Amino acid sequence: MTDRFRAVVLAAGQGTRMKSALPKVLHRAAGLPLLDHVIRAARGAGADEIVVVVGHGRAEVEQHVLAHFGAEVRTVVQDEQRGTGHAVRCALPALTGFHGEVVILCGDVPLLEPEAIAALLAVRRKDPQAKVAFLTATLDDPTGYGRVLRDEQGRVLGIREHKDASPREREIKEWNTGVYAVDAEFLRDALGRLRSDNAQGELYLTDVVALASTAGGVHGVPWSAESVMGVNDRAQLAEVEALLRRRIAVRLARSGVTVRDLASVFVDADVTVEPEAILEANVHLRGRTVVGAGARIDVGAVLTDVEVDAGAYLKPYTVAERSRVGPRAQIGPFSHLRPETDLGEDTHVGNFVETKKTRMGKGSKANHLAYLGDGQIGEGVNVGAGTIFCNYDGVRKHTTVLEDGAFIGSDSQLVAPIRIGKGAYVGTGTTVTRDVPADALAISRVKQENKEGYASRLRERMKALAAAAAKDGTK
Ligand code: UD1
Ligand code: CA
Repeated sequence: MTDRFRAVVLAAGQGTRMKSALPKVLHRAAGLPLLDHVIRAARGAGADEIVVVVGHGRAEVEQHVLAHFGAEVRTVVQDEQRGTGHAVRCALPALTGFHGEVVILCGDVPLLEPEAIAALLAVRRKDPQAKVAFLTATLDDPTGYGRVLRDEQGRVLGIREHKDASPREREIKEWNTGVYAVDAEFLRDALGRLRSDNAQGELYLTDVVALASTAGGVHGVPWSAESVMGVNDRAQLAEVEALLRRRIAVRLARSGVTVRDLASVFVDADVTVEPEAILEANVHLRGRTVVGAGARIDVGAVLTDVEVDAGAYLKPYTVAERSRVGPRAQIGPFSHLRPETDLGEDTHVGNFVETKKTRMGKGSKANHLAYLGDGQIGEGVNVGAGTIFCNYDGVRKHTTVLEDGAFIGSDSQLVAPIRIGKGAYVGTGTTVTRDVPADALAISRVKQENKEGYASRLRERMKALAAAAAKDGTK
């Protein structure tokens, strides 16, 4: 997006107000830790190296960064939280020999877009004398934030922290968002000159701004307050999540997806939805779910890491995880696809059917009330209502194989390991305990007997018994 630069992400603070054992930057919004949103924004704007300053919950944050970004992102440790200026100082060893620009970000501002960083860099680059540019925002009540001090010409003089500000200064509505682009050499020099003679006894990164104003200039770049909104407690986390969610829904809608209700569609950041797909209200698409062109996801579906192929139809209240739904398949309402379900093209899985680790070939159907666990189902198979794959013996799991064209009558139990041959037919209500050869009929139910006129005699007998019992009771 722009020329290369390095990014430093501050993430050592405690985040006390989250009231959480989990480090603040690992709390999730739209399926991703807050920190990941910030790292991605830096990467999206073209950062060629990203350094994260860790401290509180350091082990967890380091482990997360390593697992998800590998060598792409480095971490440095700030052992004691002695202020934002001190935090950036801790990152300096990772910037040794670097001469360009350093973009400094906070790990708790997940709504920041790459465009904001690009705009910041563009302003600084237009004025090569300037040492610092930073994003500002305006709020009616910026209590708690550092205020931007400007002279009559509008030139930035410095930033005053709320706790250090005079009553007059506290009336200033323009505040420092904590997003900076700083010349690397100037930064090294300025950080060395910071002092902690302030209300919090900390090394303030904001003092770098005042130093820059007398050493070439500073630009305060106004930006939208929404994009730089920070997360300090879980109410703000929910607000940020709602904004992110809406952003994603609008992006999908603009790309050609029908989104029935922008406000109630919950799509995680790493989900892909192809054009012409339809998302009805109250749909949750989580993790790395992919929805193909023209697929329709109806009301109340919850899909986690699911691949839905083109033209498939997931009817209301389908719940699926780590599964694939093939082209033009029809699932639900009320189906439950558990991990490693793989449904081929034109398959049908209906209400109250649960699948787990089961593959189903083209055109096969299980339309009502069934449990299909550890199954290998061929093509054109019909699984009747109430069929159970008895896959678990209390110790191990076993496989049920239904070959192409098999027919399983309703209310059958298939006791695995078991194989039903090609085109074989299992009679309704059968408990299958031995393999069924191709084209055979398996039936295990007791022969039916009809006793003519017996029903009314039976009723008379039962009434007499009831009357005798009642008489007994009154004695
Ligand atoms: C800071 C700014 C303030 C600005 C506000 C915007 C300073 C002195 N003030 O205030 O002008 O309006 O951000 O949100 O910079 N951190 C560390 N190590 C530390 C201290 C903080 O890594 O020793 C990290 C925190 O984890 C956080 C970020 O730096 O990600 C900002 O720290 P925070 O304490 O929230 O700064 P504020 O006092 O809110
Ligand atoms: Ca803050």
